[in-house]
Formats: sequence, C-alpha cells, structure tokens
Amino acid sequence: MSSSNPLRDAADRRLPRIAGPSGLVIFGVTGDLSRKKLMPAVYDLANRGLLPPGFSLIGFARREWQDEDFAQEVHDSVKEHARTPFREEVWQQLIQGMRFVQGTFDDDNAFEQLKKTIEELDKAQGTGGNFAFYLSVPPKFFPSVVQQLKKHGLADQKEGSWRRAVIEKPFGHNLQSAQDLNKVVHEVFPPHEVFRIDHYLGKETVQNILALRFANTLFEPIWNRSYVDHVQITMAEDIGIGGRAGYYDGIGAARDVIQNHLLQLLALTAMEEPASFDADALVAEKTKVLGAVKLPKDLGKETVRAQYAAGWQGGEKAVGYLQEDGIDPKSKTDTYAAVKLEIDNRRWAGVPFYLRTGKRLGRRVTEIAVVFQRAPHSPFDHTATEELGQNAIVIRVQPDEGITMRFGSKVPGTSMEIRDVSMDFAYGESFTESSPEAYERLILDVLLGDSNLFPRLEEVETSWRILDPIEEYWDAHGKPAQYEAGTWGPVEADEMLARDGRSWRRP
Ligand code: BG6
Repeated sequence: MSSSNPLRDAADRRLPRIAGPSGLVIFGVTGDLSRKKLMPAVYDLANRGLLPPGFSLIGFARREWQDEDFAQEVHDSVKEHARTPFREEVWQQLIQGMRFVQGTFDDDNAFEQLKKTIEELDKAQGTGGNFAFYLSVPPKFFPSVVQQLKKHGLADQKEGSWRRAVIEKPFGHNLQSAQDLNKVVHEVFPPHEVFRIDHYLGKETVQNILALRFANTLFEPIWNRSYVDHVQITMAEDIGIGGRAGYYDGIGAARDVIQNHLLQLLALTAMEEPASFDADALVAEKTKVLGAVKLPKDLGKETVRAQYAAGWQGGEKAVGYLQEDGIDPKSKTDTYAAVKLEIDNRRWAGVPFYLRTGKRLGRRVTEIAVVFQRAPHSPFDHTATEELGQNAIVIRVQPDEGITMRFGSKVPGTSMEIRDVSMDFAYGESFTESSPEAYERLILDVLLGDSNLFPRLEEVETSWRILDPIEEYWDAHGKPAQYEAGTWGPVEADEMLARDGRSWRRP
C-alpha cells in the first residue's frame, strides 16, 4: 500500500476527504500553469472546505515580490480562473498562510529563507511540518531544486510529519533522462512521497473509464478482439502554443501528450481488471498492458508528425507554428502526432489503437472511441444499410463529458432502412454535482498521500520505451508534414488510416 495512512484505505471513499494540517510550496509560481490551474485549484479546495484551517501556500520565484504582491497575484488568478464563487471570508482565511520567497534555484540564501518560512508557518498556522513541494518548472531545473531541498534539510522526513515532491510532466524527454531524473529525485525523496502529475488522471471522465468497464456487466464481454475493430484516441486542441514557445519547441506533441495523457488513456481502456482499486494493483495492470504495446513495423507509414501552417480558426487568422514568437523558423518540432499501436496480448491481438493529438485543430475535444466490427452477416438488403456505420462506444473526456453509444436503428416508414443513431449519457444531465477540476483532485490527493491517480516510474519508463523509437525515427527522417490551422490535421494522417480501410472520426 502506498498511502501514508493505512487507515485511510479502509475509509469510506464517499465521505468528503479533507486534508490534514499541511502546506504547499510552488516553484515556478509565476508560470502559466500556476496562474491558470494551481492557485485557483487551491482556492476552490479551500472554498469547498477541503483544506485545513491553517493551510499555507508559499510561492517561490525569481520575481522581486513581497508577500502582498504574491497574494495579489493569487487573488487575480483566483478571480479569473477559479470555478467556485469568490467568498471574502475564505480568501481572508487563506491569505493568513500565504508567503512569498524570492530567489533563484541556485541561491542558498533563498532556500534558507524558505526553511525559515516553513518553520514560522508551522508555528503560526499549525502546518505540523507537512509540506508538499510542487515543481511547476521546466524539467531541466528538477535536479537543482530537489538537491537544494536536500541540502537545506527541507526534504528530511521527520517522525510524525511528511515532505512530498510533486513533479509536473514531462518526466524526462526520453527513457534515459527519465531514469536519470528519477535517480536524482529518489536520492532525496522516498518513492511513496514522489507524486508525478498527469492531470488527465484527475479528470472525472478518465476515472469513469474504470467505472464503465469494471462496475458494469454490459461492456466487458465485448471489450476485446472478438468484437472490437479498432480504437481511436483523440486529443485535439484548437489553441496554438500561445506563450509556451520556450517549453514546447524541441518537445513537441508526442512528448507533450502522447507519452503521458494518451498512453494513460490507452492503458485504462485496454488494461485487465485490477485486483482492487489501490495504487499498487492499478499500476501493475497499467504497466502490464503498456508493456504489451507493439510498435508498427513501418514507422514511416504508421506514424505521422506535422506542424500547423497559417490558417483560420474561429473566424480569426492564425499564424503558422514557425511564425510563432520564440520559435526557431527551422524548427522540426511536431504540433500534431498520430501513431498506430497494437497490443500483443490475448484480449487485443490484431486490434489497432490509433492515437492522435494536435494543436490548432478543428476544435477542442478529447475522446476515446471504441469502434466495433460490423455484424458478421446482414439479413437486410444492402440498400437498407447504406447509412449504417460501425457500432461505437465513445467516451467523451471533454468537453460535453459523457458517453455516447452509436448503433443502427430502423428509420420510421414503410420500407426497411437502417441508419445510425446515438444514445447519450451526459454528466451535466445525470448528476447535479459538478466535477472538480483535475488539479483540485490531484492537489488534494497529494496532501492526503493518496497516490492512486499518479503514474509511477514503471509506467513512465514503459511509456518512454514506446515513444523513444518513434522520436528517433522522426529525428533521422526528414521534416514534419504540414496542416492548415483550423483543419483536422495533415492528409498523411488520413492516408495512414485509409490504408487500413478506416477513417478518423470527425468529433
Ligand atoms: C498539458 C499539455 O499537459 O495538457 C498542454 O502540456 C495541453 O500542451 C494541456 O494544452 C491540455 O490540457 P486539457 O486539460 O486542457 O486538455
């Protein structure tokens, strides 16, 4: 069991889970992620009453800020991005535990200052020595930050309290660098105190894949090669790279999201039922299925990478990737990637899993479509079924969270004509509770020491083993294809499926 408190594992998970005395230190607090997601998530948790009264938030960054400036920054980000209404009394309580430490990652004085701030908050706010260090910084800084934490005694696990590291993706840029990074992190933090973030696992709809598959009897009997023709996993974004050139260029779509989000979706869709819902059992099954992933023989034909060229999006002109601010005009970085994978096991042998992701595509949508084989025999005249497609179960991760089942139905009238219809489950209609934001769920889990929704090193390594040969192939072979901004990607990706007699869904 990896939970720090074994009693929790026996606890009723329906009860509100409230964090005990604790605080969060965010490195990279002036970054986009912190402003748009982390700080609002902390406020929303506080607003929902899920944080302890003395909860403390420390921002660490280079900027010349005082505590008040930091508080103002959090305030603005909460006002702009929080999901729950602003309540002055919650804000006033939260602000009591807010501090800012100014410095760079090689500045010993700054880390001494951080140590003093934590000690002061332990006394003033009753945080009990329990602090999570959130590394929302580019991966190249991970080693210096964790080593500084060690050097200044900030990572020492003292009796009766905890220190945790929260690490944003990407965890490395290939297998070797992930292993090196891991060595550095584990010299400082024990494995069960390291939380690697893949925020897709914090999404309700992603967790619902497990509910759909393993809490029902309806789907599992057909969830295999005897019935499934293929699976399409799509994560499309309409945005470009925005202000993230520094992070994105050189990383690209495949490392940014296939290595983590999309392979996690594949793992949850394809894995066997875990013996229980605890972290060890889940990781074991996910790692097993990722380990059975087989790369296509011809990487030139069965993978595609591309870059967006100028185009129109939502009625506005969008510049091409190479014209974006901060991008090397000769960059070969992929903003679109599609791969065909297979899974070498009894359940899935011969069933292709097509994964695709891209920026500046037609619209923002993430979905998993399990597409079924056609009926082996049709008693109907072929004209009756001209408009009948393949049955499908589509897990709509976002937006319009829910599940769609597509099947054929008789068109009303005197002749026999069968056409596709769909049956929908929508979160918004079936439940009155709103879904927490992924980062809310994950930050709360970190504070509770619950690691179910965090990928372990084995999974991260196995995912790099899948991606590394593809990236190496791309590096050695030519340039990315092009697609116009606002479209559904390059023709090469359509051709890739057409060769298999299939086509991408247009969600
Ligand atoms: C992040 C990627 O992990 O996920 C971004 O680094 C991407 O490039 C983002 O935009 C998308 O997240 P979501 O939750 O909006 O689908």
